[in-house]
Formats: sequence, C-alpha cells, structure tokens
Amino acid sequence: MGILKIIGIVLAIIMVAAAGVWLFSLSGSYAAETLKPDGAVTGKALIVYDPGLSGNTKNVASSMANDLKAKGYEVVLAGPKSSDASKLSGYSILMVGSPTYGGKPSGTINSYLEGLNLPENITVGVYSTGGTDNNDSNQFMADILKKSSVRVEVSEKFGSSADKVEYSNFVSQILT
Ligand SMILES: Cc1cc2nc3c(=O)[nH]c(=O)nc-3n(C[C@H](O)[C@H](O)[C@H](O)COP(=O)(O)O)c2cc1C
Repeated sequence: MGILKIIGIVLAIIMVAAAGVWLFSLSGSYAAETLKPDGAVTGKALIVYDPGLSGNTKNVASSMANDLKAKGYEVVLAGPKSSDASKLSGYSILMVGSPTYGGKPSGTINSYLEGLNLPENITVGVYSTGGTDNNDSNQFMADILKKSSVRVEVSEKFGSSADKVEYSNFVSQILT
C-alpha cells in the first residue's frame, strides 16, 4: 500500500472520529433531564451546561445536581440549546457551566448568556472547567451577565485537580 493511501486512510479515520465527537457534543446541547429528591421538594434549580468534548463540565454539573437533590431540590440539567434551558420561571437557582477554550467559555454558552432574560429573585452562579492556567473564563461569563445587570452570586473556574468538595462548596455558597 502506498504511503499516500495510508495517510488518506488515517486522515479519514481522524475526520470520522472528530465528526463523531462533534455530533455527540451537539446532541448533548439539546438534551435535558430532571432529578427529583427522595423526599419533599424544597426548591427548584436549573443547571445549564455545555456538554463539552471530554465530559468534565458535565461531571461537575452532575455532581452539583446530586448535591442539590440531596438538599431537597428538584434539578433540571439542560444543554444550552434545549428548550428547558430557556424556560426559567419557577426556579430559585440557575447555574451555568462551560469548558474553557482559548481562555474563554464556549461559543454556545456565550450566546446562551447573552440571550438570557432572567426572572426576578433567581440566584445565579457560573462556573467553568479548564486546565491549570489562570485565565478567567468564569469571570468572562459573569461579565456577560453583569452587562445586563444580573448579579452573579458565585463564580468559579475548576481546574483539572478540582474535586467534589469544591463543587459542593460552590453549591453551599449559592444556597447561602
Ligand atoms: C481546544 C481546547 C482549548 C483549550 N483551551 C483552554 C484554555 O485556554 N484554558 C484552560 O484552562 N483550559 C483549556 N482547555 C482545557 C479544557 O477547558 C478542559 O479540559 C475542560 O475541562 C474540558 O471540558 P469538557 O471535558 O467538558 O469538554 C482547552 C481544551 C481544548 C480542547
């Protein structure tokens, strides 16, 4: 087999894999699920997150959702393009999460935040996930909301070594 043919096959495999990852991520953008607490419902929270490519942002969202559920919250986990992400009435808490790409939140989350029309009395927290560098993708998210006079209660970037204790602290801060 000629070298050009081998290079062609390798490139084709890479392109198919990249398209698969992209489609998987896109489908997550439209997905939504609801977690209900075992006992009485004490409040409702919406967590909108970009499913990203490797699952970090989703894992943080799931961890926070389980934490809120254990505290009696009914939690909707929604991709930013799902219809649930824009239905904001009835929630007392909104959290928005994004991966960091080139120091900024993803384009999908950027657009979501810019288009948000929030009801009154909803407490907002934003988080980003990323590497260990010190760029402020979370601050970028908070600044978009501040432009529309939305008060952001908690804003944090979780590096690769962040754990459930930190996610739980984020939830505790938003609840106080
Ligand atoms: C193309 C690309 C660019 C990235 N740029 C940054 C960056 O500027 N700063 C950072 O802290 N992390 C950066 N990262 C790391 C991701 O933000 C990090 O791995 C994130 O948790 C991925 O989230 P996900 O698993 O939900 O996709 C980058 C990753 C990729 C793939």
